[in-house]
Amino acid sequence: MTDQKARKILVTSALPYANGSIHLGHLLEYIQTDIWVRFQKARGQQCTYVCADDAHGTAIMLRAEKEGISPEDQIARVKAEHETDFADFQIAFDNFHSTHTEENRELSAEIYKACRDKGHIATRSIKQLYDPVKEIFLADRYIKGECPKCHAEDQYGDNCEACGATYTPADLVKPFSVISGATPIEKESEHFFFKLPDFQEFLQTWTRSGTLQDEVANKLAEWLDSGLQEWDISRDAPYFGFEIPDAPGKYFYVWLDAPIGYMASFKNLCDRRDDLDFNDYWKPDSDAEVYHFIGKDIINFHALFWPAMLTAADYRTPTAVNAHGFVTVNGAKMSKSRGTFIKARTYLNHLNPTYLRYYFAAKLNNSVDDFDLNLEDFVQRVNSDLVNKLVNIASRTANFVKKSGGTLSENCAEEAMVQSFIDAGDQIAAHYENREFGRAMKDIMALADRANEYIQDKAPWAMSKEEGREQEVLDVCSVAVNLFRQLMTYLSPALPELAEKTCAFLNLDDLNWDSRTNILRNHAINKFKPMLARAEMDKVTAILEETKVELEKENGGAPAASDAKASKKADKNKDKGPAKREDGSEAIAETIEFPDFAKVDLRIARIVKADHVEGADKLLQLTLDIGNGETRNVFSGIKAAYQPENLEGKLTVFVANLAPRKMKFGMSEGMVLAAGPGGADIWLLEPHDGAQPGMRIM
Ligand code: MSP
Ligand code: ZN
Repeated sequence: MTDQKARKILVTSALPYANGSIHLGHLLEYIQTDIWVRFQKARGQQCTYVCADDAHGTAIMLRAEKEGISPEDQIARVKAEHETDFADFQIAFDNFHSTHTEENRELSAEIYKACRDKGHIATRSIKQLYDPVKEIFLADRYIKGECPKCHAEDQYGDNCEACGATYTPADLVKPFSVISGATPIEKESEHFFFKLPDFQEFLQTWTRSGTLQDEVANKLAEWLDSGLQEWDISRDAPYFGFEIPDAPGKYFYVWLDAPIGYMASFKNLCDRRDDLDFNDYWKPDSDAEVYHFIGKDIINFHALFWPAMLTAADYRTPTAVNAHGFVTVNGAKMSKSRGTFIKARTYLNHLNPTYLRYYFAAKLNNSVDDFDLNLEDFVQRVNSDLVNKLVNIASRTANFVKKSGGTLSENCAEEAMVQSFIDAGDQIAAHYENREFGRAMKDIMALADRANEYIQDKAPWAMSKEEGREQEVLDVCSVAVNLFRQLMTYLSPALPELAEKTCAFLNLDDLNWDSRTNILRNHAINKFKPMLARAEMDKVTAILEETKVELEKENGGAPAASDAKASKKADKNKDKGPAKREDGSEAIAETIEFPDFAKVDLRIARIVKADHVEGADKLLQLTLDIGNGETRNVFSGIKAAYQPENLEGKLTVFVANLAPRKMKFGMSEGMVLAAGPGGADIWLLEPHDGAQPGMRIM
């Protein structure tokens, strides 16, 4: 690779909203990206990592108002907080900017005008609910009222938490604006739309051209096949954002200028750096690579709207969009009440960021599967891999080198072994490149095991007690130190702080990938200082406690979901494997005639609520939305396989015309379909998104 030209690579992580703190879910993404970027840099590529705060939208405007400050002050405050959090987790952006900047205003206007001038913008009037007191249009989550079905009070505009019914805000009884309490009225206004259907063919090809993970491309194919919709890109004043050119009082919807914020941040950096040229990276003939790292909830914004807009405006499209799954803690969605909605700062108050970086690396792969942070496993894994295996190699041998004068042996006593560690670097590099960090860590820890076996086998501590074996002791320990250096080279993208300590210990300028091929001989090293303390479970407990206390302090605040959150419910459900019968039996039943089959009324339902059943070992109680505002109560034997909170929102298949059955715990009005041998190995049937509650299965 030394004689190859360095690749020019621009990398981004999604821009965090400027109305909340960074939490562990965010960190999965920033750490994943940072590891990949550090890897590229260690390999000698010209790699640039930019990000920014996503500063626009109604939520930020209202939050500033509540705090009694200007939106500008509000976003400056949050930006400072975000930057410290990122720095403390050793996330090394080359630039961290904001979407509320001149660069972004100019680029957004330019891209919009290019789309408009090519005829890709439509305008038309639409009706929306409006707060006549606050004089603002209301997104669904700013409207509450009485459930039209069960008349529970104080329900949000799209579904009832009490009975699970789903509806539109217009159906609410006695609706009111969450902002002012006023009764909303319907009001018309003109909106601007990006004509996404113009890009149907382009996107059909683009999404299949190696730019996306297969699972993501398949999901998008469903939408592409069912036809694309025009995208509403405007919001009426008052709105915190950029005014649309030639349209006074109309603002770009936050998601229009957010991805342009990637370019704006890069442009801002280019203006300060002689070696980076904006056009070199963004013009259609660019030979640079551009990668976006994002969560699976914002795929449609990055893999449909964004490439379409870029193409329309004569910019290049990303080389790839790399999506990851969502963080769960101990198998369940992060939850404030359980104390698992952990902020970056709360974690840092108790634990070393290196632990989390390692655990994320050790379990990450390149899929969009959710990522479970199991707290006991976390502590155990970090201690056994980093403290017991890795650091131990240096701590057991460094002192003997020091005692013999502090310089490694002239000769390498185990050249073949050290060489095999060097050779392993190519495969490890391939894993990093493919975002298979877990595989990389696995390979590295297997090497660490070999290093420890070697040391154990030679037992320099025993040798050192025998006279005349000083050289042998130094030889063995020099080999060990060389092996440690190889391991730390491979770990340096994931563990930058340990890498730095290693450089100080080994008296090296850096641990770049290429220089590892020079075995350290006759090389002076420094005194070994402890590198990493053990992780302790009681610190984890303290984090959970502190998180719960934060929640109590926060309570009383209005919902702070940002403007964009509502429209990004896109991709929460993954398709699981095929499923068969609820009892899990695989037996092939006797043949039946079609009319027999036709008697079974199979339908799509959405699980709107799932609960444990007191006193039942195997059952969960499910509330199903079966369409037309109707709900059903069903008991299902899937408790060992699912956390109730993970089921909520999922689509499934159920037998609608099964006679109701009275059970010990209540009436079961149907049956949901699942497959598997049973117990924890059972999978609920999950239809593709696009299916709607109530649809009949044929
Ligand atoms: N502002 C938008 C992104 C605009 S990009 C042009 C946004 N912000 S966010 O703060 O909600 O999320 C930032 C990133 O963090 C997203 O990629 C999101 O998927 C990711 N995550 C937020 N919560 C997460 C988890 N619990 N787990 C994993 N990633 C999560 O979306
Ligand atoms: Zn209700």
